[in-house]
Amino acid sequence: MSAPKGRAAPSDMRLPPRGRDQPRRTGTVATDRLVYDLTGIEHQYDALLDELPGTRIRFALKACPVDEVLRCLTARGAGFDAASPAEIEQALRAGAHPDHIHYGNTIKSDHDIAQAHRLGVRTFATDSIQDVTAIAAHAPRARVFCRLATSGDGALWGLNRKFGCAPDDAVRILGTARDAGLVPAGLSVHVGSQQMTGEAWQQALDALAGTLTALAGRGIAPDHVNLGGGLPALGYRDRRGNPLHPPLDKIFTVLREGMERLNALVPAPLGFVLEPGRHLVADHGVIRAHVVRLTERTQPDGGRARWLYLSVGKFNGLYEMDQVTHPLVFPGRETEEHVPAIVAGPTCDSDDAYGAGRYPVPVPASLASGDPVRILSAGAYAGSYTTRGFNGIRPLPTVCTRGQEGHH
Ligand SMILES: Cc1ncc(COP(=O)(O)O)c(C=O)c1O
Repeated sequence: MSAPKGRAAPSDMRLPPRGRDQPRRTGTVATDRLVYDLTGIEHQYDALLDELPGTRIRFALKACPVDEVLRCLTARGAGFDAASPAEIEQALRAGAHPDHIHYGNTIKSDHDIAQAHRLGVRTFATDSIQDVTAIAAHAPRARVFCRLATSGDGALWGLNRKFGCAPDDAVRILGTARDAGLVPAGLSVHVGSQQMTGEAWQQALDALAGTLTALAGRGIAPDHVNLGGGLPALGYRDRRGNPLHPPLDKIFTVLREGMERLNALVPAPLGFVLEPGRHLVADHGVIRAHVVRLTERTQPDGGRARWLYLSVGKFNGLYEMDQVTHPLVFPGRETEEHVPAIVAGPTCDSDDAYGAGRYPVPVPASLASGDPVRILSAGAYAGSYTTRGFNGIRPLPTVCTRGQEGHH
């Protein structure tokens, strides 16, 4: 797969020379690991800023709470979208200034708010009167931005219903914030994770424009708009193993035009914040795992099917494997005969399978237990969505490398 112009190529698309990674037939998981290519992440960050110049990037660290990755993004100038006091502490440890961290979770207890405030964070997301009242009590004079609801249409994970309010509510909430001594500083949206359409952004920008106008009628002039996460990874495949082809160029065009349009509505230029998670890290994380076994059996419908069980699955790195599939590379096996097999993880849970266990993909026919496999575009939410000890399986170790080393 070649990367679109001006964009960092998903890491580990090339194979190492033969012999450097010969199949191992140990049958152990000792060498399994999640490998991040820091150079790839840096290029991805730079490419995003090239596309949307002037925006402030606040990496949604839930997507990759790995200290080395956070330090590398801090050095590049990124701040962080944190979802809890523990994430704020991790961002601070990575060297971020508290002014470059916001508490982006609309769901927080009084204790969480007070703790974030103690840690120096002064900007909070909100979407209800109850939450904004609590912020006023436990983080006096803080800045708040109100999250507008989106439909989630067009995204693989919609993030709708649980978060965000209607524009009318946003006007009331920011009015309450002002009356309570807070700074009604902004509006935000999240169009849903791995958003696959430009239209979703268009609708979100329309809602932002309408709300900014309504706020102006109440004498409230936010200083920024937070466009959230949702920017897609490029390397995923769908449940059937076909490339997804997210229309990234179109999305960037919609965003550039939308930002201009919003700025035309307000007296002073708005700041724009982005909270990318998977877009920065997904394509630059590779899981190095191994084959447990390739089997063939009669299925309940009477047909024969092959199943390829890998040492890594839904519970130890591929939590999203029922919704997206990740390209698999079997080093040195490209020219061998391939057969269709349903790919699944090692546990005794039937959710632990690519495409809900329905769609076979081509795999080398001669795979044996212990053979190595690389699982590409696996860097987002891999570690953070890992279970601890299900079936006795421990979380994957994480390794950060640079450039070619990321291909090991
Ligand atoms: C508030 C917020 N911002 C940003 C993100 C990152 O989203 P994505 O990984 O789609 O970029 C999330 C993900 O859940 C989120 O909840």
